[in-house]
Amino acid sequence: TKQQIGVVGVGVMGKSLALNFESRGYSVAIYDVTEEKVNEILTEHSDKQLTGTSSVESFIDSLEAPRKILMMVPAGEITDKAIDSLVPHLNKGDILIDGGNAFFEDTIRRNKALEEQGINFIGAGVSGGEEGALYGPAIMPSGQKEAYDLIEPFLTAIAAKVNDDACSTYIGPDGSGHYVKMVHNGIEYSDMQLICEAYYLMKNVLGIEAQELHEIFKEWNEGELDSYLIEITADIFTKVDEETGKPLVEVILDTAGQKGTGKWTSISALELGVPLSIITESVFARFISAMKEERVKASKILRGPKNSEFTGNKEEFVEMIRKALYLSKICSYAQGFAQLQSASKEYDWNLKPGEIAMIFRGGCIIRAGFLQEIKKAYDRDEKLTNLLLDPYFKEIVENYQDEAREVVATAIKLGIPVPGLASALAYYDSYRSESLPANLLQAQRDYFGAHTYQRKDKEGTFHTEWINK
Ligand code: 6PG
Repeated sequence: TKQQIGVVGVGVMGKSLALNFESRGYSVAIYDVTEEKVNEILTEHSDKQLTGTSSVESFIDSLEAPRKILMMVPAGEITDKAIDSLVPHLNKGDILIDGGNAFFEDTIRRNKALEEQGINFIGAGVSGGEEGALYGPAIMPSGQKEAYDLIEPFLTAIAAKVNDDACSTYIGPDGSGHYVKMVHNGIEYSDMQLICEAYYLMKNVLGIEAQELHEIFKEWNEGELDSYLIEITADIFTKVDEETGKPLVEVILDTAGQKGTGKWTSISALELGVPLSIITESVFARFISAMKEERVKASKILRGPKNSEFTGNKEEFVEMIRKALYLSKICSYAQGFAQLQSASKEYDWNLKPGEIAMIFRGGCIIRAGFLQEIKKAYDRDEKLTNLLLDPYFKEIVENYQDEAREVVATAIKLGIPVPGLASALAYYDSYRSESLPANLLQAQRDYFGAHTYQRKDKEGTFHTEWINK
């Protein structure tokens, strides 16, 4: 008998997803070029419906037709190499699924090239880390719909569930699933950055220590900020470094790396011409954090404001930070979802933002109670152009803005960087402004480059000789 599904690449994610399929009753074949990895898994799980090999021929041969193969290999060239090694052995109608963090344009290219050979190619964003992969990730599959229909039961079975709804749904054609996963990661970046700024303010303005920070985040997690990232943040503050006896977080170096998906989200925003300032500031914040040596030098040369004393009330300020955080989070999701809609038009994907919010509710890194509110917003108005215009979000942002302004103003006065929180307010204020200073900008462009301008009072294109010759 043949196996129902194959998994290529049995690193942490591939192995966990293979075991997840098996635990839902599917027979699984695993394949990896490293024989030891395969053997280790087979020995450890000898009681399971699992076969494995490091020979591509016997792997392909062990699968039911049409073959369903999930690839979990590093994004980029290695993915292309893996595809090239599999394709000569496949038959028309077989289905390759790329579950890695592929760049969506690569997925579009691969989908097209393989389709020409009669092979279905599904790009599937998978979120949730090792735990998610093993017990229930969020999955964002895209590609040929007929092929998706054949793998739908498999994906639904392994996905996270929220009130019986699977956190996996068909996203759209070719690269759309990986695009949605990319924006998920961008949002993940901003969620993390905003939480980091909240922490930094509480620590540096209010002098709050790890134990109390743990309690504050724990409490926040019981309210409207309820989310996986707030939950793990609360947890992080409880960990003590065995060597120094200090909270581990205070021993960790303040530099952050990245694998690139957040950066891609910003690049795509620039290309589409959509304002994605909060996620982009979060990418920049990682860059500037990585300039540690230069910052250490600059800190000895450049001084901050004269006044660095906080005079307000501690408890009140903590609550203001909470509100600033929620307001900024809402603005960031408003930007991210607006970008999804813009990309959907550009690439003709017909994305359903409500359904995307639904699958983000569980399994993935940005899972949060408030995604239910996003889902409701799109249920109320399928064509909603910006989440800020939905009554629920409008009310919160209107009601929390004074506190958010106070927090950002205080941070700026005291010389504490809050790029995420500040750009959220700047976005809110720009978006709700009937007029912006771009009239002057048009004049400047026309002045130096005869780029022409439009007028408020009549139609048409105008040019002025600005210099009296
Ligand atoms: C997920 C995550 C995951 C991502 C890591 C690291 O949804 O499970 O987004 O896919 O690889 O979070 O991302 P960075 O290295 O870019 O921070």
